[in-house]
Amino acid sequence: MDKLKVNGPTGLKGEVSISKAKNAYLPILAGALLAEGIVTFKEVPNLRDIRTMNKLLEHLGVEIEQVEDGTFTYQTQKLKTHEASYELVKTMRASICVLGPLLSRFKKARVSLPGGCAIGTRPIDLHLKNLEKMGAEITIEGGYVEAKVDRLKGAHLTLDFPSVGATENLMMAATLAEGTTVIENAALEPEITDLGHFLQAMGAKIEGLDSKSITIHGVDSLRGCEYTAIGDRIEAATYIIGGLMSQSEIKVNNFNPVHLDAVLEKLEQMGAKLERGEDWVKVSPSKIVGGEIDTAPYPGFPTDVQAQMVALATQAEGTSIITEHIFENRFMHVPELQRMGADIRIKGNSAIVKGGAPLKGAPVMCTDLRASAALVLAGFCAEGVTEVQRVYHLDRGYEKIGEKFAGLGATIERVKE
Ligand code: EPZ
Repeated sequence: MDKLKVNGPTGLKGEVSISKAKNAYLPILAGALLAEGIVTFKEVPNLRDIRTMNKLLEHLGVEIEQVEDGTFTYQTQKLKTHEASYELVKTMRASICVLGPLLSRFKKARVSLPGGCAIGTRPIDLHLKNLEKMGAEITIEGGYVEAKVDRLKGAHLTLDFPSVGATENLMMAATLAEGTTVIENAALEPEITDLGHFLQAMGAKIEGLDSKSITIHGVDSLRGCEYTAIGDRIEAATYIIGGLMSQSEIKVNNFNPVHLDAVLEKLEQMGAKLERGEDWVKVSPSKIVGGEIDTAPYPGFPTDVQAQMVALATQAEGTSIITEHIFENRFMHVPELQRMGADIRIKGNSAIVKGGAPLKGAPVMCTDLRASAALVLAGFCAEGVTEVQRVYHLDRGYEKIGEKFAGLGATIERVKE
């Protein structure tokens, strides 16, 4: 397992280009199962999770061709199997997103229960009970979801919680259902809207995107199309926070700052000097003071930026209180930051961070994707070398993170273990 050796303290300088969003492309790639024709995706980021999704889709029978760097075609004439095996699904729970498309176009699916992951149990009850409301016969057997239906029927669905994955699965399921489906209390994340735009490009009839009530009128088939996903707002937030932690002047390009409103506003409240453009944010050296952060569904503060905020808070003047409301176990970065000297106390689902304790480089362990990013950022402020181990967690969602930070002047080296 590789590790990243980060020399600190370091300043950063220059510009960085953000890749297309992992959390947009993962459901969109699954959505390619719905198309009768060829779908072409561009600027697909080279990430471990994307490769896992492609492996699952090819296992199911999707023919995937690489046309050029970042451009792929997907064609699904007929399936090889309806089964998404535990071996594949256990490595990436977003695999559950193939359930809706498989049921909608191929009327049958056998998908392993994703199981929990480091950050929580991550149930899929909202996905399943709403697919049943659309007429699917669903049983759970031996850790697998067995689902079948003659043809899904449109239904009026209300999500108990604005689940991103459930909204995505149900939107995709509804595109080929008979009649109209309304999803109330739908998730509002930009990645949901992006999925909706992709489905519309294939001929789906969808209204109410960017709202909590999405209406999908079922059609008989969907055609191929060409599509490029939105920029990765979570990757962008990670670089913006890295710039602030290292007191640097950097420009973060190729994403929509509107998708980070809650994060940028909070950072500015904490003293960050940020300039926003059409598709970029410029960071200038700023005196950061502690703040209160509560994660929430979009448009609230994203849980995927919580770990990075804890790292920033270690550098802030005063105390910060960061409360995680979405996942039950998303503070695994805290013990690792404490080993670097950070003054953090966990109280219930809050991290209380006293800024100003000097950080020392240390060997630290990645546990989940965003916690790992927080450790890299801390390494920029720590005295000495921080060895970030099990970097495969980072590779899941950060394209070329070592090269991108090295391009900003960081001394960061990837070492094969
Ligand atoms: C998506 O996960 C993202 N993953 C996560 O990003 C992100 O943290 C999360 O949305 C919240 O924004 C992808 O898009 C691939 P949810 P998802 O369903 O769909 C509960 C990253 O770092 N819930 O909105 O799994 C669940 O337990 C990853 O890139 C149910 O109870 O998120 C959790 O507490 C991590 N029943 C909450 O909802 C269900 O049926 C949020 O889950 C579904 C969810």
